[in-house]
Amino acid sequence: MHVVIINGSPRVQKYSNTEKIIASFTKGLVEKGATFESYAVSDRQSWERIREAYSKNEEILIALPLYVECVPGLLLEFLETLPKKDERTRLSFLLQSGFAEGCQLRCGEEFLEKLPNYLGVRYGGCLVKGDNFGIRVLEEEKQEQATKPYQAMGELFAEGDGFFREEAKKFTGPEYFSLPMSLLMQVVFKTFGKKIFQKVAASWGCHTPLDEKVWEI
Ligand SMILES: Cc1cc2nc3c(=O)[nH]c(=O)nc-3n(C[C@H](O)[C@H](O)[C@H](O)COP(=O)(O)O)c2cc1C
Repeated sequence: MHVVIINGSPRVQKYSNTEKIIASFTKGLVEKGATFESYAVSDRQSWERIREAYSKNEEILIALPLYVECVPGLLLEFLETLPKKDERTRLSFLLQSGFAEGCQLRCGEEFLEKLPNYLGVRYGGCLVKGDNFGIRVLEEEKQEQATKPYQAMGELFAEGDGFFREEAKKFTGPEYFSLPMSLLMQVVFKTFGKKIFQKVAASWGCHTPLDEKVWEI
């Protein structure tokens, strides 16, 4: 199997969580004897090359982050430029997000499910998983730990059934948090979470409070 992988994040590859997830996923692919070529829509200069790869190959995987509950605008813009193909081509998706509950990603998943039909191609399923906010701010070793589970999904994908198998469905994790868990999450977000966000912002040169109401100054 040869897979064309397209990173659908607007973030440049160096800072993209999706890119780190792809790196782990492709380890699994290669482990099982598959080959791949990968592209990123964040690099507009490469769009022509991506379209060419899309046209010439039959196994396409778009890996993307959830942005405002759905597909990033830049990826939509790119998708509008794709040519129509036929059912010999299979289009699958790896959808990842910040929030951890599966329910957060279902709107995006529903949109993606409909997309292959518009393009005339076959749907290969959608791997859905959240809890990925922090990957890019982790140290390299921790990034590898955080993305390691995607390696097994790469191995699964290389077996040829897309993301329709039970293991891929289970990969999402909890659909909803229990009430005690969601209360705990709210407390954590409002206390430690807030401090961590502020610390990360400071390391990027932002020293004003993140909840500053600039419109009131
Ligand atoms: C503009 C923007 C909107 C986002 N919207 C959501 C969202 O609606 N739900 C969610 O769970 N995560 C959301 N996220 C978090 C991203 O999905 C998450 O951090 C992802 O890992 C980013 O991948 P990337 O670095 O490859 O772009 C958003 C992030 C950004 C920058």
